[in-house]
Amino acid sequence: MSLIDHARAVRENAYAPYSKFKVGAALRATSGAVHVGCNVENVAYPEGTCAEAGAIAAMIAAGDTAIAEIAVIADSPKPVSPCGGCRQKIAEFAKGDVKVTLTTTDGIVHETTVATLLPGSFDADYMSRV
Ligand code: THU
Repeated sequence: MSLIDHARAVRENAYAPYSKFKVGAALRATSGAVHVGCNVENVAYPEGTCAEAGAIAAMIAAGDTAIAEIAVIADSPKPVSPCGGCRQKIAEFAKGDVKVTLTTTDGIVHETTVATLLPGSFDADYMSRV
């Protein structure tokens, strides 16, 4: 099963009664294990979590700490774009050249990288004087 297939499958479990916009994310850790997540909304809207955040939480819970590749899927007119917060969350665990595959449920695919999605990102180097 490809990473996109994993993302497509977990998207079905998304809890998105408010936006009606279901998102699935799947990542392959450097260990080779695949971890998945979907968006989980809340009646208190800001408490909802994105699919990417769920996949990252699953990865950490499973004992992996590095992303080798990640895919995101939604029923959007063009390949779904991770929000700013998720870009920062992905960058915490992925090198800049890590492949990010953004897709639509009807098969439009856009491949990019973590560094392209989040140029000039804040990272631990900025805190080296602390
Ligand atoms: N959402 C994600 O889960 N990931 C993205 O990359 C974009 C947005 C979710 C958050 C919210 O539940 C819904 O999509 C609409 O913004």
